[in-house]
Amino acid sequence: MIQIDLEGGTVTVDGPDGRKTVPLASAEAFAIVSDAWLRAGWDTKYVYSFAWMGRPVIQLPEDMVRIQEVIHAVQPDVIIETGVAHGGSLVFYASLCKAMDRGRVIGIDIEIRPHNRKAIEAHPLFPFITLVEGSSIDPTIVEKVRSLVKPGERVMVLLDSCHTKDHVLAELEAYAPMVSVGSYIVATDGIMEQVAGGPRTQGDWTWNNPRRAAREFVSRHPTFTIVEPQFPFNEGMVTGRVTYWPDGFIKRLR
Ligand SMILES: C[S@@+](CC[C@H](N)C(=O)[O-])C[C@H]1O[C@@H](n2cnc3c(N)ncnc32)[C@H](O)[C@@H]1O
Repeated sequence: MIQIDLEGGTVTVDGPDGRKTVPLASAEAFAIVSDAWLRAGWDTKYVYSFAWMGRPVIQLPEDMVRIQEVIHAVQPDVIIETGVAHGGSLVFYASLCKAMDRGRVIGIDIEIRPHNRKAIEAHPLFPFITLVEGSSIDPTIVEKVRSLVKPGERVMVLLDSCHTKDHVLAELEAYAPMVSVGSYIVATDGIMEQVAGGPRTQGDWTWNNPRRAAREFVSRHPTFTIVEPQFPFNEGMVTGRVTYWPDGFIKRLR
């Protein structure tokens, strides 16, 4: 149970330690309300309502702002993304590359539907984009992507294709070696663990999700760690992300 009392300025919630009431003007209240908002957003397919420069993008806008902050800090030469769909996220990253005057994007999808390919190839930012069609964990596809990266280039990777734990783990094993020291491989959509039990979810999502894959990967690979990206600007009280990508930022340490 969550009760929001806007007049009284409090939020009341039932948690594992019983019922508690916290001031609305607190980071804790913001986190409680945000979790409820994320769940309502999942149930209403809120993330399926945005486009970036004409292409549908299936992301929570806050995640797009946060990844922009990270991309600006890292200044990658190549951004590799698995999971293209309509191409909105590829176009988003390409637009950042153009604005930064640095970088290009490689997108991999098991099936790039003809109407999506046509629209992406016709987009003014297509010169920044390379499309690769095939399964992201097929060794020939991984090798093709690797061959598109030049020695010494700074690489960042985003995993947004099939979100089963096994698939994301296989992607992490295949693409993490391409990630530059100080850069990231991002396992998106760990939200699955949080919304398990809701509409359009499956019973095994409590463990069969990208968040679990990320945790298992870093436990096997001490050269990588899960980090929370620091906000480059923050004059408010909130320090945690409202995100579909919990524990998603995996940083290469060495
Ligand atoms: C969530 S959508 C990607 C959304 C996109 N990144 C965006 O932000 O708009 C997932 C995509 O992953 C693709 N996909 C599923 N399994 C895959 C696999 N084994 N290899 C590569 N892509 C896969 C699907 O075809 C689908 O287009």
